[in-house]
Amino acid sequence: MSAYLDHAATTPLRPEALDAMLPLLTADFGNPSSAHAPGRRARAALDDARARFAAAIGAQPREIVFTSGGTEASNLAIKGAAWAAKTRGHRLVTTAVEHHATLDTVHFLEKFGFEVTEVGVDRYGRVDPEHLAAAITDRTTLVSIIWANNEVGTILPVAELVRRVREHKGVLVHLDAVQAAPYLDLDVEQLGVDLISFSAHKFEGPKGVGALWIRQGTALLPQVQGGSQERYRRAGTENVAGAVGLALAYELNRRERLATIRRLRRLRDRLKETLLGLPGVELTGHPRERLPGHLSVIVRDAEGDAIALALDLEGTACSTGSACTTGSHEVSHVLTAMGYPDDEARGALRLTVGRVTTDAEVDEARVVAPRIIEQHRVGAAALAVDPLGERLRA
Ligand SMILES: Cc1ncc(COP(=O)(O)O)c(C=O)c1O
Repeated sequence: MSAYLDHAATTPLRPEALDAMLPLLTADFGNPSSAHAPGRRARAALDDARARFAAAIGAQPREIVFTSGGTEASNLAIKGAAWAAKTRGHRLVTTAVEHHATLDTVHFLEKFGFEVTEVGVDRYGRVDPEHLAAAITDRTTLVSIIWANNEVGTILPVAELVRRVREHKGVLVHLDAVQAAPYLDLDVEQLGVDLISFSAHKFEGPKGVGALWIRQGTALLPQVQGGSQERYRRAGTENVAGAVGLALAYELNRRERLATIRRLRRLRDRLKETLLGLPGVELTGHPRERLPGHLSVIVRDAEGDAIALALDLEGTACSTGSACTTGSHEVSHVLTAMGYPDDEARGALRLTVGRVTTDAEVDEARVVAPRIIEQHRVGAAALAVDPLGERLRA
């Protein structure tokens, strides 16, 4: 038996998306910039994908730029908007719980004279709108906010945060919707931001493709130079099959969203009941304002890395938080920002279910995880009493 409980890291490609993509990788392989018939077929497929994805988020097709994923979308949004507004100001505001795609991008810009403010969060990973408002000055040009956190699943109060930013004229808002888009109600006009990043592989689309929604009229400096693709906003031959897979996966996601959410909550809550029933295990992130399939905990007196590894050896795939930092042994910047000391943050464990997760997978994890967690807590406690492990060897 095995269980895949890491849907926040990535989801499997759904078969309908694969079926829609295959012709574009085989018979209809044309370059959408070519004038001949194969090129025109590819162009038609790309245009259709753009129109359908735009319709699904309440946008205009011309406002969509397809990218190589969420990371590139956020890079384009942040660097593109910051550079375009550089003459007006050099201050960027973000939160302390962003994905590295945002944090590393804003800090990279510091090398070029930009100044960055990271707004702190509470114990649940939520940003106080007052704190965000206080961080904005008349030299601020861009605010970048994560909608739902990938490590702890907390949903930020975006409506209120955006309302406070809007009190300052001329400040753009970028929303990292990579984790939120698969589960939350999403309409670009209702959100009232200027730029939104998406990634297909989080909603059962293909990996290596994403999208940036750019509100019409938003000044953005392209970050990749070359051809005239994507209305000069992102040069390079488009990933036609990827865009088609993204659009279809998102359309299907929207149709099934409410039923999926109910299912995910039920599965997640069964896992939660088991894990939180164990001594030394505590929920991280907000107890209610969180993504439906997302469970994150800390295990006291234990290493989350070691637990995730042991679970993997027994066929249960989960993570400590961010897939991107796995193996780096760094303490999560998200948990640090939420006020967890390093030794507690090292016990982080994340289990995330998805649309295709079965009851059997959850049952499996509910049997295996308690045993492994208990072993690791006992092992850690014994080593703490006797660092050389004499007692364990005896
Ligand atoms: C919140 C968030 N933003 C951005 C990204 C980056 O997306 P991608 O993997 O498509 O580059 C991720 C991926 O884990 C994420 O969780």
